[in-house]
Amino acid sequence: MTVKTIILAAGQGTRMRSALPKVLHEIAGRPLLKHVYDTSMAIADNSVYIIYGHGGEQVKTVMEGLQATWIEQKQQLGTGHAVQQAVDYIEDEDKVLILYGDVPLLKQSTIEGILANVSETSLALLTVVLDDPHGYGRIVRNEQNAVQKIVEQKDANAEELLINEGNTGILAANGDQLKKWLAQLQSNNAQNEFYLTDVIEMAVEEGLEIVTSQPEMQDEVLGVNNRIQLAHLERVYQSEQAEQLMTHGVTLKDPARIDVRGHFEELGQDISVDINVIFEGVNRIASNVSIGANCIIKNAVIAEGAQILANSIIEDAVVGAGSRVGPFARLRPQAQLAENVHIGNFVEIKKSTVATGSKVNHLSYIGDAEIGSKVNVGAGTITCNYDGVNKFKTIIGDGAFIGSDSQLIAPVTVGANATIGAGSTISKDTPAEQLTLSRPKQISIAGWQRPVKKEK
Ligand code: UD1
Ligand code: CA
Repeated sequence: MTVKTIILAAGQGTRMRSALPKVLHEIAGRPLLKHVYDTSMAIADNSVYIIYGHGGEQVKTVMEGLQATWIEQKQQLGTGHAVQQAVDYIEDEDKVLILYGDVPLLKQSTIEGILANVSETSLALLTVVLDDPHGYGRIVRNEQNAVQKIVEQKDANAEELLINEGNTGILAANGDQLKKWLAQLQSNNAQNEFYLTDVIEMAVEEGLEIVTSQPEMQDEVLGVNNRIQLAHLERVYQSEQAEQLMTHGVTLKDPARIDVRGHFEELGQDISVDINVIFEGVNRIASNVSIGANCIIKNAVIAEGAQILANSIIEDAVVGAGSRVGPFARLRPQAQLAENVHIGNFVEIKKSTVATGSKVNHLSYIGDAEIGSKVNVGAGTITCNYDGVNKFKTIIGDGAFIGSDSQLIAPVTVGANATIGAGSTISKDTPAEQLTLSRPKQISIAGWQRPVKKEK
């Protein structure tokens, strides 16, 4: 058996009031359509077809590289018409699954449940019981509770409008049957559209059973039509992430104030996360790491017991075990800290390695540098790595002590255990073990008078 998943994504999304096609709006940093695609890719033996229309080229460009077939629906004549665009790809023996590019939180388990309900004699439909079913197609059942048809809101009579079981639109059917029904769809209804929902009545007429199931949680089947719904589903998604983290053994000071836009490739236990932390991309966080308030952690590797203090930003960087970063520190791409390194406030580190036990505690820029172990970099030290065109390296040997407010003009090497006097501008390599300083000798002028303001 092969599953053919057809994702409908041709709608305009007018209510988003956006130049961006609706399915490109994001939840957790990922386009809505990508959520649906990723979930469907988890289904075994499946191939994916995306029906696109409005803003289609932009959607295709942003989503480049998907293992999906893109099918254009030039005019949006209804959900049935949308599925019709894919008939050439449907084989008789396929199971066809219909999903929606703007319904991002549907779970894999729910999909698998639907697929299990399809057979030669049955069609599977996902329905949802709603307090307010307004806008939804209604599920019409007979006295035996068997589904007879779906009536759209705009076509429903007063009695049908009272039905609170709504159509999610998500269904699965056999390829041969679905193709036959799609060919019979007509648009003589209130919206002059080709309704996919009409296949239900056709199936019933042929004696098929409509097997319905419901999602575990309602939010799974909610679509995004405006930015309020987008924000709602973002929160739903984030609270699920928070619960997963806590279940795993992570302490969240406030599960409502954390955002995970990506995933964890590795996650230890007894990690503690204060409020307003954003995790982006792929992170690896070991046990006993603590992360202070307002940090952004992106594509980072943070080893056992490291402490990230408040208001720090870490991107594409490595923090070694027992190291301490922040508050207010910035680790940029390719910053690599070994064990027990201390990076303090207002320190920026880019494309540099800092070996075990070294400290850069205050107000520094370290770029394109190799810092040995047990080095102390004084406050205000700057590696001058860039001449406006080229980047150069600064190498600092083990045990060196860089006096405050020094500039190291790369390329330059500071020898092991060297001391650099505070306020030095170092433009040549400095020998190991010695004190190097570059500053005019201090002088004092006796009897010097400060200028005095004249009385008016
Ligand atoms: C549809 C269902 C309704 C269900 C509701 C759930 C039909 C006729 N009605 O109604 O029973 O309760 O969804 O939200 O199916 N689309 C296309 N091409 C088109 C038309 C739609 O790709 O020509 C896509 C849209 O982008 C959207 C989805 O299909 O993602 C649903 O279309 P929409 O017009 O919103 O359907 P509803 O009227 O809400
Ligand atoms: Ca809709």
